Amino acid sequence: MFHLIQLIVMVLAFISHDHEAVATLWQPTLESYPPLIAPITKHTGAAQDLYSVEIMTDWVNGQYVHSDFLIDTDARLVWHECIVQLPISTEKCPIDTLCNTYVPSPPCNVENPVTGGCLQVKTSYDEFTVNLSNGRHILAGVHDASLIAGCAPSSALVSFPKNVTGVMALSRSPYAYPAQVTGIRKNILALCLPSTTSARGVLLFGESPFYLLPHSDVDVTSLLSYTPLYTHPESFGYFIVVNAIVIKKRSTGLPMNTKAKLSTIDPYTTLRTDIYNRVVQSFTKVTKQIPGAMPVPPFSLCFRTFTNGTKIGLKVPDINLSLEGGKNWTISTLNSIKQITKDVACLAFLDGGAKSEPAIVIGTFQFQDNFIVFDAENARFGFSSSLLPKKTSCSNFNFTQTSDMY
Ligand SMILES: *[C@@H]1O[C@H](CO)[C@@H](O)[C@H](O)[C@H]1NC(C)=O
Ligand SMILES: *[C@@H]1O[C@H](CO)[C@@H](O)[C@H](O)[C@H]1NC(C)=O
Ligand SMILES: *[C@@H]1O[C@H](CO)[C@@H](O)[C@H](O)[C@H]1NC(C)=O
Ligand SMILES: *[C@@H]1O[C@H](CO)[C@@H](O)[C@H](O)[C@H]1NC(C)=O
Ligand SMILES: *[C@@H]1O[C@H](CO)[C@@H](O)[C@H](O)[C@H]1NC(C)=O
Ligand SMILES: *[C@@H]1O[C@H](CO)[C@@H](O)[C@H](O)[C@H]1NC(C)=O
Repeated sequence: MFHLIQLIVMVLAFISHDHEAVATLWQPTLESYPPLIAPITKHTGAAQDLYSVEIMTDWVNGQYVHSDFLIDTDARLVWHECIVQLPISTEKCPIDTLCNTYVPSPPCNVENPVTGGCLQVKTSYDEFTVNLSNGRHILAGVHDASLIAGCAPSSALVSFPKNVTGVMALSRSPYAYPAQVTGIRKNILALCLPSTTSARGVLLFGESPFYLLPHSDVDVTSLLSYTPLYTHPESFGYFIVVNAIVIKKRSTGLPMNTKAKLSTIDPYTTLRTDIYNRVVQSFTKVTKQIPGAMPVPPFSLCFRTFTNGTKIGLKVPDINLSLEGGKNWTISTLNSIKQITKDVACLAFLDGGAKSEPAIVIGTFQFQDNFIVFDAENARFGFSSSLLPKKTSCSNFNFTQTSDMY
């Protein structure tokens, strides 16, 4: 009798698509599902640096086929390349035609995250697996079943890095990946983006301690500071509140409740012009002793790092984002200064324009070698600041020992 009631309740919970209800009902089984772990690759060379996650997408002739999907914490639907004829446009999608059904349906629209162009996708149930390098593999879908995903013609992948054939939507949309697997794992997404193309970072979904070499005894999640995590009515992305941007003793105060979007697509943190100008002014004052260089667009503040045959080890003051709750996200030199050429390095922040909305978009250069956690379960965002002073990095995950974690 108990089982029957439980079954009915579970079925109802699924029909209602109420993720909180599902999560609560599935509590006893949450522990039995290990977190999903997948490698992240950095791609350079295209117009902007982008990051992909490697997942298994198919099983052909007794072998798994792996694909790289673009990491996008804003996208509303997981989609990938397939053989289908559907229109592509360079315009933005009209908001009312965006994909908004939970079941496979006629084509609907999503945006190419890199170009912003509108494209039609055909939704279907797909089976995706996440590769664990020790040979274990776990189906990504709820109940070891399938995931709703869209498919689009290969021409939809314009401006994508080579060999990246889909979009891993990690937003709060009900058709993104987290909502579709959250019934069996906690909706906690951790990203650790690598700073180089040669070593892999790591994506973790679910709740788990986490270790980076050589500190096999230090749980990285114990090093995190937290700030409240917000939604926005016009976005499926993740937002935090920044109260001030502090450089040495100079504080750039921000209007109450200034929300910053966390973006895995924007390569650099972008500030509304009024904020940008004040930050650059402070930064200029505290770096007066460093020889300047001609600006290299899109950056406006650049430095010479090679003078009279001597390479200058550039070390600039930290930029602190003072976040709601009082914790500081410390952005140190490797996350604030980008080496452009052998001779020139620039402050890696961009002017978003006078009307830029949101006023702050925190981009991927500032995430590199930081451990960040989108904890939708507890409505909080966790951040480690740079892992480098802690003598580790995002490229230090031992993928061959994942089985030991469960
Ligand atoms: C998982 O990926 C690694 C590295 O790409 C590969 O060596 C390994 O064979 C893969 N495992 C399976 C089961 O496909
Ligand atoms: C793309 O994939 C092909 C085939 O798997 C491989 O030979 C090539 O090296 C890959 N290119 C890049 C840039 O990863
Ligand atoms: C930046 O934040 C860190 C961590 O809270 C703090 O230790 C440091 O003193 C702050 N630096 C400045 C210049 O405010
Ligand atoms: C570089 O060398 C020139 C000529 O020797 C000298 O005038 C100049 O001050 C030097 N610049 C720096 C930054 O050391
Ligand atoms: C954050 O930095 C400010 C100075 O910018 C400092 O006064 C404050 O104590 C720091 N907060 C924490 C939690 O370290
Ligand atoms: C990674 O894990 C494997 C399996 O536990 C272990 O044999 C190996 O020594 C580890 N690698 C490093 C660098 O610690």
